[in-house]
Amino acid sequence: MTKKDVLKPQLWTPRPVAETIAVYADWAETYDAEVEKRGYRTPERLSKALADVIDLSTTVLDFGCGTGLSGIALKDAGFQTLHGTDVTSEMLEKATAIGLYEKTWVSTPEDPAFGKGAYKAIAAIGVVSLGAAPPETLAMLVGKLNTGNILAMSYNEPTLRDVSYIKALDDEVASGHVEVIFRENGPHLEDVGMTSDVIILRHK
Ligand SMILES: C[S@@+](CC[C@H](N)C(=O)[O-])C[C@H]1O[C@@H](n2cnc3c(N)ncnc32)[C@H](O)[C@@H]1O
Repeated sequence: MTKKDVLKPQLWTPRPVAETIAVYADWAETYDAEVEKRGYRTPERLSKALADVIDLSTTVLDFGCGTGLSGIALKDAGFQTLHGTDVTSEMLEKATAIGLYEKTWVSTPEDPAFGKGAYKAIAAIGVVSLGAAPPETLAMLVGKLNTGNILAMSYNEPTLRDVSYIKALDDEVASGHVEVIFRENGPHLEDVGMTSDVIILRHK
């Protein structure tokens, strides 16, 4: 697979975890340039929406922080203290190197290595997504929240068409674990005309 290929539709397909990590490890070097060239807008949209619902002094966990583009957007929205984690060490190394995060660590899909209630706000920007973290990750993240805590997440267009991701979100709402306090469709990769929903959940 060439690095250009991974931004083609085959990026947005289900795959085993080891393969997901391999895709992102291979992409780490050119990820920023490639997604920025295509007008990656979800981080900015979701960070601004998050800034409207929680205090900017809140420490935000940037879950699946990748190379740190989501952290840059969170900082630009005004958040001062960020922690970042990702399953792909090559992506995380880039995020660590930009020096925005107070703390970063490599997590595993089985063990994200933080406790319930450790964060009042978790951002998962482009993470619980077809081709990245599986739908079950959503319930895992919700399970890490205490009452009133926030999960800010996004579903891109291919993910919005996947019943397993829709069901994962519907289940969390229907079970009464969370309420949707913000949801808005808008540009994801502007240059290729792809949209995403940015979604903010509050734990009940
Ligand atoms: C599309 S990138 C988004 C990165 C960053 N949040 C951004 O907005 O640029 C998806 C990221 O999710 C990470 N990822 C995939 N599965 C994961 C999991 N189970 N837990 C945490 N991160 C995961 C990948 O390694 C990759 O860095």
